[in-house]
Amino acid sequence: MKAGDSIYAYVLWGGGYAEYAVATEGEATAKPKSLNYIEAAAVPLVALTAWQALIDTAKLSAGQTVLIHGGSGGVGSMAIQIAKARGAKVIATASTSNQELLKQLGADVAIDYTKTKFEDVAKDVDVVLDSVGKDTLARSYGVVRKGGIIATLVAEPNQAELDKHGIRGAAISVKPNASELAEITKLIEEKKIKPVVSQVLLLTEAVKAQEQAATHHTRGKIVLKIADEPK
Ligand SMILES: NC(=O)c1ccc[n+]([C@@H]2O[C@H](COP(=O)([O-])OP(=O)(O)OC[C@H]3O[C@@H](n4cnc5c(N)ncnc54)[C@H](OP(=O)(O)O)[C@@H]3O)[C@@H](O)[C@H]2O)c1
Repeated sequence: MKAGDSIYAYVLWGGGYAEYAVATEGEATAKPKSLNYIEAAAVPLVALTAWQALIDTAKLSAGQTVLIHGGSGGVGSMAIQIAKARGAKVIATASTSNQELLKQLGADVAIDYTKTKFEDVAKDVDVVLDSVGKDTLARSYGVVRKGGIIATLVAEPNQAELDKHGIRGAAISVKPNASELAEITKLIEEKKIKPVVSQVLLLTEAVKAQEQAATHHTRGKIVLKIADEPK
């Protein structure tokens, strides 16, 4: 990379919600050419979270089955596409209005959690990616095959439940990683991953964005627009 190149990054400290931010070499990589800045901004945090959960932690491989809760959310929508790019079979959950989106993202099986209990459909899966927690996490232990894993973004897995089912658990805490972001960029340029942006708001509307995010029913990402696209 050289001075003046367009970059994107998940910056750990002092990033986002700002006109200027400092990113270290270990956090940033070249912005995908096929995405505009709004789309690119929707990638790093959620794609790295999905990557670190599915690839680094769960070691998801081709032919395995993964159950992705909240498949229409920021992390979930990336996770479906990353898992498909790995050659895994994907079962994903969301409410009625997001069923079509789950299919578009590549889910082999889409479950409407308002109508169907996921445990009636998903059985003996290799990996669960949980971005919902509470009752959803509590009901997930029983759908994992022995030796499989639950990676959760929102809670500490219950050790007694893990032991009872002979499975592993991990609480994910995403970290910046430029080389993983470069791998994700490659998948974007190969048209295997595309961010879902449901709303673009101004920086001055950050409170509105935060209120929407707090509903836990956001489709993909909300992006705060800081400035016009550079020429
Ligand atoms: N640990 C980490 O490093 C890390 C990193 C990133 C994010 N997170 C956390 O992970 C969570 C997910 O974040 P996010 O930005 O991807 O999305 P989010 O806004 O929390 O969730 C979005 C999606 O979850 C779906 N959803 C809500 N209730 C559900 C249920 N009971 N079953 C299945 N799906 C359900 C919604 O679909 P419907 O509208 O169709 O219900 C929505 O599309 C957040 O709590 C976030 O703070 C943690």
